[in-house]
Amino acid sequence: MNLTATKSLERIKSEADDSEHSLKRTLGPVNLIALGIGAIIGAGLFSLTGIAAAENAGPAVVLSFVVAAIGCAFAGMCYSEFSTMIPIAGSAYTYAYATMGELLAWIIGWDLVLEYAVGAATVSVSWSSYVVKLFHTLGITLPVSLVNCPFDPTPGIINLPAVIIICLMSTLLIVGIQESARVNGVIVAVKVVIVIIVIAVGFAYINRANYTPFIPPNTGKFGEFGISGVMRAAAVVFFAFIGFDAVSTAAQEARKPQRDMPIGIIGSLAVCTILYVLFAHVLTGMVNYKIFKGDASPVATVIKQFPSQALQITIVIGIIAGYSSVILVMLLGQSRVFFSMSRDGLLPKVFSDVHPRFRTPWRCNLIFMAFVSLFSGFLPISKLGQMTSIGTLLAFVIVCFGIMVMRRSRPDLPRPYRTPFVPVVPVLGILVCLAMMASLDHQSWYRLVIWLAIGLCIYFGYSRHHSHLAIGKGQ
Ligand code: ALA
Repeated sequence: MNLTATKSLERIKSEADDSEHSLKRTLGPVNLIALGIGAIIGAGLFSLTGIAAAENAGPAVVLSFVVAAIGCAFAGMCYSEFSTMIPIAGSAYTYAYATMGELLAWIIGWDLVLEYAVGAATVSVSWSSYVVKLFHTLGITLPVSLVNCPFDPTPGIINLPAVIIICLMSTLLIVGIQESARVNGVIVAVKVVIVIIVIAVGFAYINRANYTPFIPPNTGKFGEFGISGVMRAAAVVFFAFIGFDAVSTAAQEARKPQRDMPIGIIGSLAVCTILYVLFAHVLTGMVNYKIFKGDASPVATVIKQFPSQALQITIVIGIIAGYSSVILVMLLGQSRVFFSMSRDGLLPKVFSDVHPRFRTPWRCNLIFMAFVSLFSGFLPISKLGQMTSIGTLLAFVIVCFGIMVMRRSRPDLPRPYRTPFVPVVPVLGILVCLAMMASLDHQSWYRLVIWLAIGLCIYFGYSRHHSHLAIGKGQ
């Protein structure tokens, strides 16, 4: 059996046409940019900015955002080419299956669990932290044992609010409440307005002394300040950009995917980069970066300086509401990837069982609800964030690589959007993403390796014997 067997594009397209997923092509460029922003702005910005400043980069965290944005822009161009070439509801998993064969497709699909499922857990922990702050502002103190995980600086038993939001969003997915473009549009508008308010109002509270030293000296530990700190912070805040690839999963719903996918992907990245740099500049200017140590809700901390309590509460409620679209899209992305893998025979059928009434892969959603809740309830945000980042960076590396493979193996395919300067852009994408991966701590690497090793055991123990491509099913 050939581990490098690829699934032909013709077959992928005809399966997509046959499936009940013949989705309506209704999304235009503005919807796609909004979809991207809806999935992008979340915990990375509202939580990790402070943590990365306090632990790694100081005020130079703005540079880290720029580095992360550059890596994402290169990868974004590669995603754009794939999503116009294979304009179906796919993801990096589908792209890899078409280009680099089943084994790599499996690896990327398995790796995407880190991006989507662990990513959803990260956002839920940050959400919980803002909820706790909101209650506090309203005069209610929630018990530490029920809002902190056992590994937090002040240990608790379980992070219950984080588990609750995961269960709520999973239930929404199961009963099939689709985020319509309009609902998403409202959430996106709220989020962008909140970010702009913090930037605009916060500017007046900047104390320039907080910018000195801009890059605090290296403490002697790798990744703690200095240039290595800026790079590690880039790898941490990279999390804030995750989600632009979710635009590519909507390719099958785009009116003119050839024109609009690149606009959606690159456009949402560009808008977020500008907002992020300004936001990080204001946050680190309002207070000394050291204050953010271990603080998963830095915005709530800085806006205490704003005179109006109503404004403070509005901002926190806006952030809490804005997280919902991120968590939903991540859990949705997760179920779509495992659904596709199960339909290809690489995972048991339970992951693609569709509920007779709701028409959703409900068992898959339930399994992930339990799995993600374990992470949400019992792990701290910085560990979860780094696992998500390393997993996603690996996916980006494989996608960049896939563009080069595809240019050689299928030069004939129509490419409405062509990544410029191939192989320079994909190679730079690979290098920047690898540099960020290299800046993450050893533990994240060990976890990635262990996760992939578990995945390989499942592949060789189960998937390769059940693969529809290998056993000739559905040809
Ligand atoms: N980029 C998303 C966030 O920051 C995952 O929450």
